[in-house]
Amino acid sequence: MSAEQPLIQVILASTRPARFGEKPAAWVMQRISERTDLRAQLVDLRDHPLPFFDQDAPAAYTLREYPNEAIARWGRSVDEADGFVVVTPEYNHGYPASLKNAIDHIFPEFHRKPLMCVGYGNVGGARAIEQLRLVSVELEMAPLRHAIHILPELMVPAMNADPFDPEIFAPLDGKLDVAISDLVWWASTLAGARAASPRL
Ligand SMILES: Cc1cc2nc3c(=O)[nH]c(=O)nc-3n(C[C@H](O)[C@H](O)[C@H](O)COP(=O)(O)O)c2cc1C
Repeated sequence: MSAEQPLIQVILASTRPARFGEKPAAWVMQRISERTDLRAQLVDLRDHPLPFFDQDAPAAYTLREYPNEAIARWGRSVDEADGFVVVTPEYNHGYPASLKNAIDHIFPEFHRKPLMCVGYGNVGGARAIEQLRLVSVELEMAPLRHAIHILPELMVPAMNADPFDPEIFAPLDGKLDVAISDLVWWASTLAGARAASPRL
């Protein structure tokens, strides 16, 4: 694979000890790692522990003046990406606080990059994904129309599977492939545009 291919980060948003999110994240990673048109990287928010946001000023003002190494490490990670697949649960009809807290610590690192979401829950995380799309606009991202919604009919068998077999999500393989193709188009196109016209 060439370094010209967009780096797609799969962000695992749940950090709960008994989280389900690892299963859809493993499925997405397995599926996209087979592709030759992108580079795939799993980013687990557990690996970026941050306190609840307590900075004096928002990152929209301070940009990359990171106050500590934990935030700087998280910012550098997001900076590397050309596009994102966020694998998110739905907590009380929203996306989890772990994800919002991570988002609020940085800002320009997300700019002009596409976002595609994989949700799970009673309505496939649809309400969480809609909220995340709204927030992504403030981050100057390009939220995609495509999304993957893992409903209880696949979530329950996957919850009960030990060891987990990504084949359980095979009915969604086609949808994921289409969504990823669109994400790669946006990621490549916007990477070229960012390089041609750098801003931040
Ligand atoms: C605080 C909390 C709130 C929840 N609210 C919802 C909800 O609004 N809609 C839904 O479909 N599932 C909801 N659930 C159930 C989650 O879909 C389920 O627990 C799922 O496994 C959470 O993802 P995670 O295990 O990866 O953290 C909620 C779970 C928690 C812990």
